[in-house]
Amino acid sequence: MHETEISKEMKRLADLIRYHNESYFQKNISEISDYAYDQLLEQLIQLEKRYPHYKLIDSPTEKLGELPSKSFPVAYHRIPMLSLAKTYSEEEVVQFIKRVKKILPNQTIDFVCEPKIDGVALSMIYEHNSLVRVATRGDGEKGDDITQNAKTLFKIPDVITDSQYTSFEVRGEAFMTKEFFETSNQERAKQGQELWANPRNITAGTLKTLDLNLLKEREIIFYAYSFYSQSIPCYTQQEALELLVKLGFSIAPTYKICHDITEIMDYIHSWSKRKNTLLVDIDGIVIKVNAFQQQQAIGITAKAPRWAIAYKYQPEIAHSTLENVTFQVGRTGAITPVAHFNPILLAGTMVRRASLHNADEIARQDLHLGDTVLIEKGGEIIPQVVGVDIKSRNQTSLPIVFTSVCPACSTSLIREMGEAVFYCPNKQACLPQLKGRILHFAHRKAMDIYSLGPKTVDALFEANLIKTVADLYKLRYEQVNQLEGFQEISTKKLLAHIKDSKSIPFNRVLFALGIKHVGETVAKKLAAYFGNMEQLQCATITDLLQVSDIGMKIAQSIIDHLNDPYQQTILTELKDAGLKFSFQKIEKFTKNLVLSSKKLVLSGTFQKYTREELSRLIEQAGGKLNAAVSSKIDYLVVGNSPGPSKVAKARTLGISVLEENDILNMIEP
Ligand code: IVH
Repeated sequence: MHETEISKEMKRLADLIRYHNESYFQKNISEISDYAYDQLLEQLIQLEKRYPHYKLIDSPTEKLGELPSKSFPVAYHRIPMLSLAKTYSEEEVVQFIKRVKKILPNQTIDFVCEPKIDGVALSMIYEHNSLVRVATRGDGEKGDDITQNAKTLFKIPDVITDSQYTSFEVRGEAFMTKEFFETSNQERAKQGQELWANPRNITAGTLKTLDLNLLKEREIIFYAYSFYSQSIPCYTQQEALELLVKLGFSIAPTYKICHDITEIMDYIHSWSKRKNTLLVDIDGIVIKVNAFQQQQAIGITAKAPRWAIAYKYQPEIAHSTLENVTFQVGRTGAITPVAHFNPILLAGTMVRRASLHNADEIARQDLHLGDTVLIEKGGEIIPQVVGVDIKSRNQTSLPIVFTSVCPACSTSLIREMGEAVFYCPNKQACLPQLKGRILHFAHRKAMDIYSLGPKTVDALFEANLIKTVADLYKLRYEQVNQLEGFQEISTKKLLAHIKDSKSIPFNRVLFALGIKHVGETVAKKLAAYFGNMEQLQCATITDLLQVSDIGMKIAQSIIDHLNDPYQQTILTELKDAGLKFSFQKIEKFTKNLVLSSKKLVLSGTFQKYTREELSRLIEQAGGKLNAAVSSKIDYLVVGNSPGPSKVAKARTLGISVLEENDILNMIEP
């Protein structure tokens, strides 16, 4: 390669890595597999070694990645949270052992092998026996302070009862179990929702969510692997792991002290075969020098310790022949390309389709029909096309062209500025969009019309009975009863579920409308801020931007939706059908700041109001809501089936426990 081309290639790689860093760390989206990312990084590292004069001052090889997000306080780490040197090569593990032995000649060196968990690194600080701060790794120097979320999410000791252990730091990995991930995805598939791509991203998103319900629903586990303390004697990694267990932390279900390279390789090989039996995805084995004194003598680099290395397992990759690429239309009109190939066995399941993400990705991979493609199923549940074998390409094969029209209704596609996704703008007549919007509306977390699944929606469309969500409320018994498979009971059930949905609270109605970029959390914020639909319909961009977490993109999307005459007709019809377009009875409360500067926690389900309505009333009265019970809380407000640990903790800390009526008596004028 010519030197200018080399410098161009280095810049291209750096840009690509930065782009993927931002997607991964800021937006929790993995557009490429870990393996493909590591390859990009490795290529750049090699080029920088050979051509150091072209190395960019701000090269991504120098950065640890994640930057703290804006919603949480910044947490500075007392000791930097380093990365690990990693390799896919057994030979490099041998080199690592040799290097360590050379630094400490004539010493016996033991190693600890631990699984490398594919999750999110966290630091937990205990002071005076209590957990005082939980933080994400961030850029290694500073991360996000997610203490409240972590306390709600994990079974980790909040108070250490043994007075010997007062101040220390524990580090480890938070992750979602494979089982929870898979069951959630099956549920999402049933509901016609977009599938989660991998557990790591969902874990990262959950740790930083502002939605209390998500924190309660999602099963996130923490395995500790490091222990730091000035005062507690601990001489080896093995002792640290044993101590962590004694203090009440969970650690990974396996680790082994190895004395030489043969034992290390045996451990690596045996877990390579058995890793699927673990509760959690592991992507390799971490090999650490066991004795802390030896670790210190070996030292660290700016980014990673020299006394440890991560051997990463090759992700499961298979080859197949690309037969076709089809395009799917989602409920928002977004077009997703899907690769179809000869069925192959991958990580225990037969796969015949894989995601291709978007048009840029197809162009980047320069795909042709008949290509030999590499399909990977690493941490991801949805297989992905990660590469193409250009050498084996048939010269006459045709390139894949991203469709310019909607595959369902043939309308010309549009692409918005700065977005990678193409959309079909035919909102009113494109069938997959119409059906998708109805399924979203009926979802458990939206209007909860339980008996309205994809088959029934298909049947209703075929019989020409519905076109929009508002039509659901016009359905009559005779119409539903004539559909195939609908007997008396099933007809009554569907109509009853539709009728029951009229009592679903305003925030969920807002979510159910399917406004682009308005998820559950944003809908709750909008509902709480504006109180009713009329207020929201009158809101300007400036008004919308006042609501926390709402930026220009969401605000514009809300305005577009509410000003669209087609959507306005639907809204009027829904209002006439009797759906909740405001929080109930809120109006009768005057601004009475009896809870000014008080901190409260809600637990359980409430009778008179929904949790969102009650939260709004409390906030109107000046109260602040927290997720977890701690000594700083003034009241725990309990409804039906409150969390037993919350109540017990409030009692231990002497915090007043109030029932729904008690708090309403306090805030009602
Ligand atoms: S030790 C200074 N042990 O891997 C070394 N890390 O690429 C600190 N990880 O950020 C890490 N399993 O989140 C260690 N058994 C294990 C691990 C582990 C997963 C993660 C950790 C770290 C990343 C480094």
